[in-house]
Amino acid sequence: MAIADLETSVREGNGKASEKELAGKTALITGGRRGIGAAAAIALAKLGADVIINDIATEGVEGVIAQAQEFGVRAKFVQANITDEKNVAEMMDHLLRDVDKIDILVNNAGITRDKTFLKMTSAMWQEVLDVNLTGMFNITRLVLPGMIESGWGRVVNMASIVGRTGNFAQVNYAVSKAGVIGFTMSMAREMARKGVTVNAVAPGFIETDMTKDLPECALVAVKAMTPLGRLGRADEVANVIAFLASPRSSYITGATIPVDGGMHMHG
Ligand code: NAI
Repeated sequence: MAIADLETSVREGNGKASEKELAGKTALITGGRRGIGAAAAIALAKLGADVIINDIATEGVEGVIAQAQEFGVRAKFVQANITDEKNVAEMMDHLLRDVDKIDILVNNAGITRDKTFLKMTSAMWQEVLDVNLTGMFNITRLVLPGMIESGWGRVVNMASIVGRTGNFAQVNYAVSKAGVIGFTMSMAREMARKGVTVNAVAPGFIETDMTKDLPECALVAVKAMTPLGRLGRADEVANVIAFLASPRSSYITGATIPVDGGMHMHG
């Protein structure tokens, strides 16, 4: 195609996001009551997906549901601790009474328990791996069969820049996020011929409750290390999640996309 034709095609909207391109799809977002998960739920609802928000806690969830519903989609909340296999199985049983299948899974729930390595307790190590890795395992294995049966699915996992670069006082978290990247690539290979893509997003520092207690000196250091010179916003990560969940990402699988203001170039 000549450049002029290509330009015309782009101008006329070829390859552009259709407004409700996820209409008829159902998305499950773990840890979706606030932060990046909430922004992802709203971004997916905006594209027409029905959204199911999971979280271990309930605070703030009504606001997220209401914002999603403004886009005319169905939105509901299911409380479950993703580290608890039985709890997750009960949640899926309950959900699948209402919907045939989950088309889009956003494995977003995650925690930090920061301490330098020699001061890190085994509980801090275990809690982070339980939520960030085992939780993702528990949910994904119950959601995938429906995707495989329908021949279409999108899994988007939350990694972190720290999974590639490591970070001071975050050995547990860095290990878990490196694990998310390994999980993503392995699952992508297994699912590639089944119509299911598996990708990850690797944010840098994003303004959410997770980062709100960073001391001022750390914030100054982060901004200095970030080519774009600021922290990111949850909606800036959500936009990438929504793209990876959409039909427009059809030739991308096993990828980990940095959303970090250019910070990965230091890694
Ligand atoms: P957040 O702390 O605001 O939200 C995390 C949500 O997960 C909370 O609503 C929490 O209740 C929920 N959750 C925790 N344990 C759970 C469990 N066992 N079962 C179900 N839900 C549970 O955090 P934020 O910043 O929105 O982070 C979302 C994801 O993005 C996490 O995986 C985090 O590691 C990742 N990330 C965040 C970055 C940031 O700078 N905020 C940077 C890189 C990655």
